[in-house]
Amino acid sequence: MLVVYFSWSGTTEKAAQMIAKSTGADLFRIEPTEDYPTSYKALTDIVKKELADGKIRTVKSAPDFAKYDTVFVGVPVWCHTAPTLMTHFLEAHVDNIKGKTVIPFCTYYSTYRDETLATLIDATPTAQHKEGYGTTNPKQGDIDAWLKKIGVIK
Ligand SMILES: Cc1cc2nc3c(=O)[nH]c(=O)nc-3n(C[C@H](O)[C@H](O)[C@H](O)COP(=O)(O)O)c2cc1C
Repeated sequence: MLVVYFSWSGTTEKAAQMIAKSTGADLFRIEPTEDYPTSYKALTDIVKKELADGKIRTVKSAPDFAKYDTVFVGVPVWCHTAPTLMTHFLEAHVDNIKGKTVIPFCTYYSTYRDETLATLIDATPTAQHKEGYGTTNPKQGDIDAWLKKIGVIK
């Protein structure tokens, strides 16, 4: 199993690490070739622009999907959806993900959890899916309960 995730301020990374801890999955952090700004205001302006323009921000490197049959995909909710960085990345790897089980997860502040999980499913049309998970505050116990519910751990 593999956990591919993007995280700007560390919360999604925490969730990714908890999934890896309970499943033994490998972790792979997606990083843009051009860094996002560190200020929230500047970032929000860029995110809105990327969504409006469909501008593609490329990633530094990709995992070797061939080694895995289950791939967790995690993002923060950004402006009501998944960061374009991740959706474009998934679309670019649609052939590598074909036939695998993709399980989406996200972290968010208050809204658009379900829409964001649905966006990750839409971006991986050649995969099978298991029920995703979204949280405002990742906790190991909650994550383990979800992993048990979907049959990934006992
Ligand atoms: C640019 C930007 C846009 C955001 N948009 C939303 C949103 O639409 N809905 C929401 O609930 N949270 C939103 N958030 C909050 C993040 O989803 C939340 O803090 C998330 O846990 C951050 O994950 P990270 O620490 O892995 O980057 C936004 C945060 C940023 C920086």
